[in-house]
Amino acid sequence: MNVLVIGASRGIGLELVRQHRAAHCRVVATARDEAGLARLAALGAVPLRLDVTDLAACAGFGWALDGEAFDTVWFVAGVLNGTQGEQDAPDAPTQGDFDAVMHTNVLAPMRLLPLAAQALKPGGRMALLSSKMGSIGQRSNGGSWLYRASKAAANSVLKDLSFAFAGKALCLSLHPGWVRTDMGGADADIDVATSVAGLCKVVAHARPEDHGGFFNYDGQPLAW
Ligand SMILES: NC(=O)c1ccc[n+]([C@@H]2O[C@H](COP(=O)([O-])OP(=O)(O)OC[C@H]3O[C@@H](n4cnc5c(N)ncnc54)[C@H](OP(=O)(O)O)[C@@H]3O)[C@@H](O)[C@H]2O)c1
Repeated sequence: MNVLVIGASRGIGLELVRQHRAAHCRVVATARDEAGLARLAALGAVPLRLDVTDLAACAGFGWALDGEAFDTVWFVAGVLNGTQGEQDAPDAPTQGDFDAVMHTNVLAPMRLLPLAAQALKPGGRMALLSSKMGSIGQRSNGGSWLYRASKAAANSVLKDLSFAFAGKALCLSLHPGWVRTDMGGADADIDVATSVAGLCKVVAHARPEDHGGFFNYDGQPLAW
């Protein structure tokens, strides 16, 4: 199996690389600094440098994928907040924080998933790491509202891609659980190995009727 992981320097992305390599898959994976690239190379992945917010780098990334044929593409890169930290409604984010979070979590998948789709095998799978915090239907408070808005928008992006790629790629939006990574923190519910094992199962077992859906790492469908 041939897999692409976008945003793999640490956390869930790095564990996706680790588990796919342990299963003898070929993995192309991205990081934006030397240390991240070295971690990917050490796992036997093909490392590509990419800052997902850098327009020129994204264009170059498209060229770097020329000739590739992936079974699955994972978009994992994401940020929780900008320089002001997490802010709750109704404290408006600064322009800089808004741009940083929206560029990474929304604009980057809008740019990069269409490029990656050109390097997918027919009928391949496209997985976007979203978050239950983006669900409007399940919302019970107004905390971290910039992150929530970005993941709600990311879900919208995935849904629209599912129409654009119908019959070509099976598209899924995924919640990884509350995971013990730099983003999730030490008090989170599950370890990264459990989350990624579940996510891989969800993607591997997804059926045609799951196309364009939003799923928890344990396979449960989630309300938008
Ligand atoms: N952990 C959780 O509980 C949780 C829950 C729900 C959803 N998620 C989602 O799952 C995904 C992965 O989360 P995580 O917990 O693994 O987070 P993490 O440990 O904070 O790692 C974030 C990853 O995104 C990369 N990234 C951020 N901005 C980037 C950019 N501009 N260009 C390239 N890479 C960039 C980071 O690379 P650098 O090392 O270069 O910064 C890092 O590899 C995110 O989309 C997150 O929103 C996580």
